Amino acid sequence: MATIIDGKLISEQIQNEIAIEVQSIAEQGGKIPHLAAILVGSDGASETYVGAKVKACEKIGFESTLIRLPESTTEEDLIRKIGELNNDPGIDGYIVQLPLPKHINEQKIIEAVDPKKDVDGFHPQSVGRMALNLPTYLPATPYGIIQLLERYNIETSGKHCVVIGRSNIVGSPMSILMARNAAPGNCTVTLTHSRTKNLKEFTLKADILIVALGKAEFLTADMVKDGVVVIDVGITRLPSDKTKSGYKLFGDVKYDEVAAKASFITPVPGGVGPMTIASLLMNTLKASKKEVYR
Ligand code: GUN
Repeated sequence: MATIIDGKLISEQIQNEIAIEVQSIAEQGGKIPHLAAILVGSDGASETYVGAKVKACEKIGFESTLIRLPESTTEEDLIRKIGELNNDPGIDGYIVQLPLPKHINEQKIIEAVDPKKDVDGFHPQSVGRMALNLPTYLPATPYGIIQLLERYNIETSGKHCVVIGRSNIVGSPMSILMARNAAPGNCTVTLTHSRTKNLKEFTLKADILIVALGKAEFLTADMVKDGVVVIDVGITRLPSDKTKSGYKLFGDVKYDEVAAKASFITPVPGGVGPMTIASLLMNTLKASKKEVYR
């Protein structure tokens, strides 16, 4: 039976570690890390995510600023606001919560963020530095997965890692990170996606499977070999009559049957999801300590 990778626990541990460090920074009269977030409009899910980020900052002793802008904000206005944050020495790092209203070009906004403050790791310079194995801010989900592999002492060197999904925020960066000459890393990586033929031929050969395609219970037991390490990045909310809330969260992995064959597996919820906030806080601490750019 698989070891369950407890992302909630690891995220709490990381947040406790950061809280201790912030306290010692405060005692020495150093600068308290300060994260800002820009939220444009009032998308329900975005409100929840940003709220959780601000709450986490308070809990660990960071300063935080939430900048709410109306749905009608123009691209120009948003870029002006970003310029202010870029030039504000009090703000160590910030995020522009995505998605943005349709009239705003997301890529343009991502590129307006000063890479020194890009704690989301979305700027092309951050992505390029990641690919070159230079100091940078890693995007939240990939950074969280790397932390899980590290803290569970999962051997990656020389292993065959198969990634399903090539999104800019998960699949593509994970394929880069797992192939890097680093620990965790040093995998032989296969990046699969919607055009991949005979996917099962690849998944059956995987020592480590990172599943990030966004299809509930897609990966089944017949697709994996015994002893596989499974990282499930999927999160799909489906109606259910078995829960009080009337819905249930599903990962991309048919959990019970795959867990029976796996050596390690992340559950949904409670696996990769809770790690994203820890990643953002780690990046903000790095920004405030000028660990990435000196
Ligand atoms: N929307 C969903 N996830 C994220 C994230 O990690 N960062 C930002 N800025 N927006 C998001």
